[in-house]
Amino acid sequence: MTQPTSGSSLPRARSLLTTNCSILDSAPNQPDIKPIRGMFSKLSRSLKTAAPALSRAVHVGTRPASTAASKLKTDLPLTAEEVYAREDRYGAHNYHPLPVALEKGEGLYVWDVDGNRYYDFLSAYSAVNQGHCHPKIVAALNAQASRLTLTSRAFYNDVLGAYEEFITGLFGYDKVLPMNTGVEGGETACKLARKWAYTVKGVPKNQARIIFAEGNFWGRTMAAISSSTDPSSYEGFGPFMPGFGLVPYNDIPALENALRHPDVAAFMVEPIQGEAGVIVPDPGYLTAVRQLCTKYNVLFIADEVQTGLSRTGRRLAVDHEKVRPDIVILGKALSGGVYPVSAVLCDDEVMMVIKPGEHGSTYGGNPLACRVAMAALEVLEEEKLAENAEKMGQLLRSELLKLPKEIVPIVRGKGLLNAIVIKETKDYDAWRVCMRLRDNGLLAKPTHGDIIRLAPPLIIKDHEVRDCADIIQRTIMSF
Ligand SMILES: Cc1ncc(COP(=O)(O)O)c(C=O)c1O
Repeated sequence: MTQPTSGSSLPRARSLLTTNCSILDSAPNQPDIKPIRGMFSKLSRSLKTAAPALSRAVHVGTRPASTAASKLKTDLPLTAEEVYAREDRYGAHNYHPLPVALEKGEGLYVWDVDGNRYYDFLSAYSAVNQGHCHPKIVAALNAQASRLTLTSRAFYNDVLGAYEEFITGLFGYDKVLPMNTGVEGGETACKLARKWAYTVKGVPKNQARIIFAEGNFWGRTMAAISSSTDPSSYEGFGPFMPGFGLVPYNDIPALENALRHPDVAAFMVEPIQGEAGVIVPDPGYLTAVRQLCTKYNVLFIADEVQTGLSRTGRRLAVDHEKVRPDIVILGKALSGGVYPVSAVLCDDEVMMVIKPGEHGSTYGGNPLACRVAMAALEVLEEEKLAENAEKMGQLLRSELLKLPKEIVPIVRGKGLLNAIVIKETKDYDAWRVCMRLRDNGLLAKPTHGDIIRLAPPLIIKDHEVRDCADIIQRTIMSF
């Protein structure tokens, strides 16, 4: 049987179960206040040295708001180059966008500042499943925005309960915990799992482990990058969260080996790994995950932030195998792309371990988010977007499979979460293919080098799929 982490060629993957757990083991005995004091004195020393530069930054670098506003060019039409230059000058460089400057979206399409129209084949990483600016979702946003937007959870509001009743009924769980972003949903699931491990499973204090699959992606917080096997996510940001372990994705014997450890609280997994390049596990994987989690009394957490909400041709991707996770995380399309809304669903045995004051968020469960989420979920159901994703996905893949194998050796996906792998040569690679797709009126973005994800809004129709397949075909053949 494979060891939990030994199948991986990544040194980091190998070290996570052992290294992190050993850090956790030694933590209680460490005088952890000392390093912090040391840090402060180091900081004050370096502040003294840096003082002149810092005061320049504070006093000279800022301008009164009125002056800054008068310089804004928001009302003037900007050229695409000006749009790129301004973001580049004033924004952090934590993204590498494809050069296209968008100003409008409707349904399947987006338009750039020069009025060019594009098919959107990224859908904001599957947040815009319902299509851009869906009228029903925008109407819900507008109606609620002028009524009541935020109360905080210090008080009750008249929309949260309606939303909670609606979403738990739709997905068949006792309770929901509302948050804002996908990564907060993941954090919430991890906290629930740890607390459940201590209070229900009987794991000794501070010993709980959560197992993840190699290649996972669930966001950018310290906890999320601590489980990552992608150096561009974690390199330079240590030290990492203890108590996390890794197993290869789609490897049931390795998972069983890891779950045997009595301190394991949960296995958190994407039913299809989106950011890793739309990696679809073997049929039966999710069923086996469910069986193992039940056998070893470990919570099965399904990260459906990208795969959920009709994207893969079912309401949830786990529905393909009719399995029921203990915890489901939703995000992205839960608002149809108009507002950050995420949710964690589970039954009382798990949800009730968290008591008042132990978790939350100022914006989580606000009336605006709740109204938007209800509208977004209704659209998915009313427009039968899961069924459409299933049908259109089959059509898209059958068209993509006609591409020349020497350039596109792999086509994979489920529903409308698909990817093609580009065999790089000196003349073309995934980035250059995406640039030329843009020139031909279709926006997509490489994920992990040679992979291009193809994930249009789920409202796409037959003739549009054929048109897009034609654009992709023409683009590929033009190299
Ligand atoms: C599977 C999965 N989980 C979680 C996240 C994080 O969501 P967010 O960016 O809203 O924090 C993502 C984002 O791409 C994701 O793909």
